[in-house]
Amino acid sequence: MKRHLISAADLSRDDALLILDTADELAKISERSIKKLPTLRGRTVVNLFFEDSTRTRISFEAAAKRLSADVINFSAKGSSVSKGESLKDTALTLQAMGADAVVIRHGASGAPHRLAGWVRGSVVNAGDGTHEHPTQALLDAFTMRRRLGSLDGRKVTVVGDVLHSRVARSNVLLLSTLGAEVTLVAPPTLLPVNVDSWPCEISYDLDAVLPKSDVVMMLRVQRERMNAAFFPTEREYSRRYGLDRDRVAKLHDDALVMHPGPMNRGMEIAAEVADSPRSTIVEQVANGVTTRMAVLYLLLGGANLGGEDQ
Ligand code: CP
Repeated sequence: MKRHLISAADLSRDDALLILDTADELAKISERSIKKLPTLRGRTVVNLFFEDSTRTRISFEAAAKRLSADVINFSAKGSSVSKGESLKDTALTLQAMGADAVVIRHGASGAPHRLAGWVRGSVVNAGDGTHEHPTQALLDAFTMRRRLGSLDGRKVTVVGDVLHSRVARSNVLLLSTLGAEVTLVAPPTLLPVNVDSWPCEISYDLDAVLPKSDVVMMLRVQRERMNAAFFPTEREYSRRYGLDRDRVAKLHDDALVMHPGPMNRGMEIAAEVADSPRSTIVEQVANGVTTRMAVLYLLLGGANLGGEDQ
């Protein structure tokens, strides 16, 4: 594996399978009464969050702590960033504190790549602008594999605001590496201009794609990133691209419904669908901890996986 995880494209098929297999092993340990392992004792993981997060920040913290790493949580709010400190100076400060890994979420696409040039430790992208969110794609693939088995030939439909979604790009890249066939469904206004070069199909007709899907992954409509009108009304968006009970009825019996969260209930996904037995949304959050444990363990060269509990 490379030293940093900045894009899902950094992962070969063997790398991705190694992370998923390691996460499987770690999930078994997480079922024990004592969940903590000594593997990263003495190593320091810094969580550097310049943008809001619930799931990713908490799960990286839980993952590092379960591996016995020392964890430093940094959020831009309340830091010297508000006094104008640059990303580079913040990074050098963390470097001086001996960070072995820096997990970064930033509103600017490319910030983790810049950071990787300034610090000696591993950099893990926890979401950068509209670019990528590779550990989200890994936990999504882990969830699919646990429910469906191998992803080779599986049909995954990703629906909604692809234009503003780092989750969509990372999922398309990782799932194609793992042999799945991805179809993006979105209004033309919510697709990036270069989407034709992505390793996936494009459709504008959700109802036609649903019966062939093994997984339907709904994306959040990112109103906070929209500076123009991308669709006529929220009601019209829901009518064309929302997942409600009638649309779920078009899926085959074993098909999964996924959402990376946070959700706009009632807009891209009906509340009753989000809470239904075929929804994996809560499972995805739980799987985020073991998947991120696997990433930190492999990047930091942890030892004694399966060793004695602390
Ligand atoms: N899915 C995801 O990245 O959620 P958070 O923004 O809460 O971390």
